[in-house]
Amino acid sequence: MKRVTLIFTWILITGSLLTARADEGLWIPLLIEQLNIQNMQENGFKLTADNIYSINNSSMKDAVMIFGGGCTAELISDEGLIITNHHCGYRRIQQHSTMDHDYLTNGFWAMSGEEELPNPGLTVTFLKWMEDVTDTVMSGVTNAMNEQRRDEMIQSNIAGIIQNTLDSTHYKVHVEPFFAGNQYFLLVEEVFRDVRLVGAPPSAIGKFGGDTDNWMWPRHTGDFSLFRIYADSNNLPTDFSPDNVPYKPAEYFPVSLKGVQPDDFTIVFGYPGRTYEYVPSYHIKMLTEDIYPRLIAIRDQKLEIMNRDMDKDPKVRIQYSAKSASISNSWKRWIGEIKGLNKLHALEKKEKFENDFQNWVDSDPETKAKYHNLLSDYEKLYARYAQYRLANDYIREVFYRKEVFYRNGTELVSFSGRFHKLVQMVEKGDSDEKINEIVEDLKKTTINFYKNYNLPTDKKIFVAMLRMLDENMGTEFQPSFYINLYSNYHDNYEKYASRIYKKTLFVHQDQVLEILSSPKKSDINKIKNDPVYLLFESVDDLYSSKIFPEYNRLAGDLNKFNRLYMAAQMEFQEDKIFYPDANSTLRLSYGKVKGYKPRDAVYYKFYTTIEGIIEKDNPEIYDYNVPDKLKELFAKNDYGRYAENGELHVCFIATNHTTGGNSGSPVINAEGHLVGVNFDRAWEGVMSDLMFNPDQCRNISLDIRYALFIIDKFAGAGYLLEEMELVE
Ligand code: ARG
Ligand code: GLU
Repeated sequence: MKRVTLIFTWILITGSLLTARADEGLWIPLLIEQLNIQNMQENGFKLTADNIYSINNSSMKDAVMIFGGGCTAELISDEGLIITNHHCGYRRIQQHSTMDHDYLTNGFWAMSGEEELPNPGLTVTFLKWMEDVTDTVMSGVTNAMNEQRRDEMIQSNIAGIIQNTLDSTHYKVHVEPFFAGNQYFLLVEEVFRDVRLVGAPPSAIGKFGGDTDNWMWPRHTGDFSLFRIYADSNNLPTDFSPDNVPYKPAEYFPVSLKGVQPDDFTIVFGYPGRTYEYVPSYHIKMLTEDIYPRLIAIRDQKLEIMNRDMDKDPKVRIQYSAKSASISNSWKRWIGEIKGLNKLHALEKKEKFENDFQNWVDSDPETKAKYHNLLSDYEKLYARYAQYRLANDYIREVFYRKEVFYRNGTELVSFSGRFHKLVQMVEKGDSDEKINEIVEDLKKTTINFYKNYNLPTDKKIFVAMLRMLDENMGTEFQPSFYINLYSNYHDNYEKYASRIYKKTLFVHQDQVLEILSSPKKSDINKIKNDPVYLLFESVDDLYSSKIFPEYNRLAGDLNKFNRLYMAAQMEFQEDKIFYPDANSTLRLSYGKVKGYKPRDAVYYKFYTTIEGIIEKDNPEIYDYNVPDKLKELFAKNDYGRYAENGELHVCFIATNHTTGGNSGSPVINAEGHLVGVNFDRAWEGVMSDLMFNPDQCRNISLDIRYALFIIDKFAGAGYLLEEMELVE
């Protein structure tokens, strides 16, 4: 309790004396007035904190939303039109694509409301308001409590808060920990469920540069797509219906045609996922020495196999482009993070900090009593945690991931795992009604699965993964079925794979659908004896009984240490203004438009132009195949009002602190107008999730004028601009 009060007083006191600085920081909208607005205005911002976040008036936060699971989007008209990244809409665009209507390749533009495409399952989420509920969450919690008791108390307090709030609203309500559980906020949200695809450029624009340019500057990707939110006749969220009408928002962003200049003030307002700014050196060591290098090695193999098959066959390209993009994205970021952390001497910096911290702790009997062993306990914990984290990550990469379906593991194994629940239900003798529900789900899953499944690719990956597992993990972290069966094949991974792929029913869509048409006991037995399913069960057993429980227990200990260490750091650096690590809640970061020096003798300008697209043009290379229409517009210099001094700008960079989840976030100028859409970070600065360096860290945004140019001049969908408020 004392610790919490301390942080409160700290915010109260320091909030009035100090304000934060630009660049680094993911700030809480509710606290902008207290902590940031003064500094923001000193840096050029012309509006007030109330214009950003207010519960009495409409404010910018009413124009920003979570798009789907992990991106941000913003409103750009009073007709519910929203813009996000192409890579955020990618799966939706892909789902609407077939060989005949290949919207990924050719782009998609609804020429009227009727042509907009519904996306079952896609939602956008607005923050209505947030509230500091730390006092209530912590009531009754004492330092003497053990973690379990403490947790139960907190959970029950949170349940009470949620229930109270729900009594008076129809909104979605949740409570999230901030500062590693030293502070709690209530978040009240409105979720819209009818979100339709309005427009997307061809991948040759929206994904220009592909995975080759991903995470890199200079960049020329037109990474945007357009959607529209629909509501019922009362402007409230509802399921899809042809009777729904475009949502009338409380606020939307005017779109600026003015562009940006060096040192211009910019805000990024969105939903950053996770950062780890306050971890001890042991965490950096674990990632850069134990975890990342091994995960990188696994993904090297997957990507090599996928890319080879995608290059050979356009059908496989459609099937695997989203999968390979998702695998490649973190893979490339990990490589960049290791480099960036090394260049920044992050480990040494953390170690020096820990030294100073320990000296401070030991200089006073009270802090000594509280924190003397914290770092040494941390270190011991990390030694074991690192082992289990690796085992956990390995299982996910090699076989399956419990929460997410066939994104990363071996496809067939993870697909067969989807039948686990059905098998259990039939065996338990669950009601037909219950079984039917899951069978209907499985039918959809099955059809989606085979649409994007190429057996030869999957099998090659399977073989490569078996080899990785065998060579890199001890037998205690290998599934028993695999060990038993495998030992009969004397290291012949191909032979083993061929055998089980030959015998399994899961390579036959018709057989799977046949079973699902009316699953009988005998079918269930067939599944249970299927070699791929048996492998899945054996992996699942290993994971559920040996890896996950211990990993989870260690992660719990780590949470506790993180909470203590966070509070201790705040006591230690009492003059510093802290921002909480990202936790997928709405945050604001502010910075300036700026170039940077990536390495000796090289300076990168802050913007790119269409020239650069033409320079990269190469019809032989998939990622650099510029559409003819774009080349024509370039040849004629036909940029309309979207050019600046005769140049058409494509992307720009700034010093805003961003991370995964900020994709699609609005980039807002000093007047509160939209100048760009955030979509990436520059390679030299991706270590900002662990340590920010204002000299090297840059967020990459699409210049909004390039998006307008593509919509208007390239796609001939200029009618969409009529509903926007363009600022000349
Ligand atoms: N690096 C960006 C982000 O983390 C873009 C990812 C999608 N693009 C890609 N080529 N994989 O989301
Ligand atoms: N592309 C990332 C995303 O999808 C944003 C880039 C970053 O990590 O900063 O959120």
